[in-house]
Amino acid sequence: MRLFTQSQKLWAEAQKLVPGGMPAHLSPQLLVRGQSPCFIERAEGCRFWDVDGHEYIDYMCAYGPMILGYNHPKVEAAVAAQKKKGDCFSLPSPLWVELAKRMVDLITAADWVTFGKNGTDVCNLAVRVARAHTGRSKILMAQGSYHGIGAWCTPIITGVTEEERLQVLSFPYNDPAALENLLKQHGPEVAAVIITPFKHETSHDQEMPTEAFISGLNTLTRPEGPLLILDDVRGGFRLDLRGSAEYIGLKPHLSCFSKAMGNGYPISALCGAKELMSSASKVFFTGSFFAGAEALAASLATLQEMVDSRSLEHIFRMGEMLKQGLLDQAASLGLKINYTGPVTIPFMTFEDDKKFEKSRAFCARAYQEGVFFHPYHNWFLSAAHQEEDIRETLLATQKAFEAVKEKA
Ligand SMILES: Cc1ncc(COP(=O)(O)O)c(C=O)c1O
Repeated sequence: MRLFTQSQKLWAEAQKLVPGGMPAHLSPQLLVRGQSPCFIERAEGCRFWDVDGHEYIDYMCAYGPMILGYNHPKVEAAVAAQKKKGDCFSLPSPLWVELAKRMVDLITAADWVTFGKNGTDVCNLAVRVARAHTGRSKILMAQGSYHGIGAWCTPIITGVTEEERLQVLSFPYNDPAALENLLKQHGPEVAAVIITPFKHETSHDQEMPTEAFISGLNTLTRPEGPLLILDDVRGGFRLDLRGSAEYIGLKPHLSCFSKAMGNGYPISALCGAKELMSSASKVFFTGSFFAGAEALAASLATLQEMVDSRSLEHIFRMGEMLKQGLLDQAASLGLKINYTGPVTIPFMTFEDDKKFEKSRAFCARAYQEGVFFHPYHNWFLSAAHQEEDIRETLLATQKAFEAVKEKA
């Protein structure tokens, strides 16, 4: 039996030194308390090793960034070459322009682009550009959607003033009539509608957007306002290399990317339509590390490899294989599961499991067997996952499903 002794020891120390031990999504408190690893020693390909020396096939991919896999040779070589020249300079490196060109060529909805470090940076920027461009204040977002930790949208409002939230209204995802009604009431004050390419709220089954919803979003928004912002921070490059807008038929005026675009190096991008370029140039957006050349090099190498190796097609194939395997196993044991969202970013819940007891039992057993899933958050696949890894995973999940069945 795997014990998590070092993990627990470090976690106890972290709680004495850091408020909450580890804030938000990386907190091991969100996994299966006492029965999950808490700290990672190293990672390679689609696997990591925890501080107790246990190996796992990873289906969280660092919550999305690792799209080619950990320590990818081409990305690491590009970063090492740049490291020799330097990273943080007094002026930008030429890679700033090279990556801008690459993104504008690749992303259908991009006539221009600017770079930050986190998804939050560019979601906040998108909202400011929309306000600057339209001269309006209100933002419409889908209930339960996550767009980072800006005061306007953070899901936990401790420390946020009421005034900062007054300009944000919400509507249910996949409800074009509710969106239309909100726009009827507040239309002339609405700067933008911000949306994710599919519904990926934590602890909920995922939902792809309906045709009616996409059509509503496209027809109810326009370049004069209300604008349409696609938050592609999580979905970006795991649905379509040209941006998820292509995959779902959306016509956004602004698109936010981060996570997968640098295969683990910190970088984000706001892309926009030409009509918004002048307004975007007037919004103050900067940071000491925004032009870091290593992350720019990582992103160029990541996007190149994704194109050259047709990595996304592979990730879809692996995603299908995992999905089919899990559905078959659950069915053969008479367990009812919901397997939702794109196969490259799937999520699995059990029916009649409102308190997630079955999910926790499933994950706890999977950790014992060397596979890392999250009980409440959607999962991610990478190009490093190969058929052998999926087969090995399925040996583990057979036991994990059996553990759930025994408990029921
Ligand atoms: C859809 C979406 N938007 C924005 C963010 C915020 O990105 P970051 O954590 O890089 O600030 C996330 C992060 O999970 C996300 O999933």
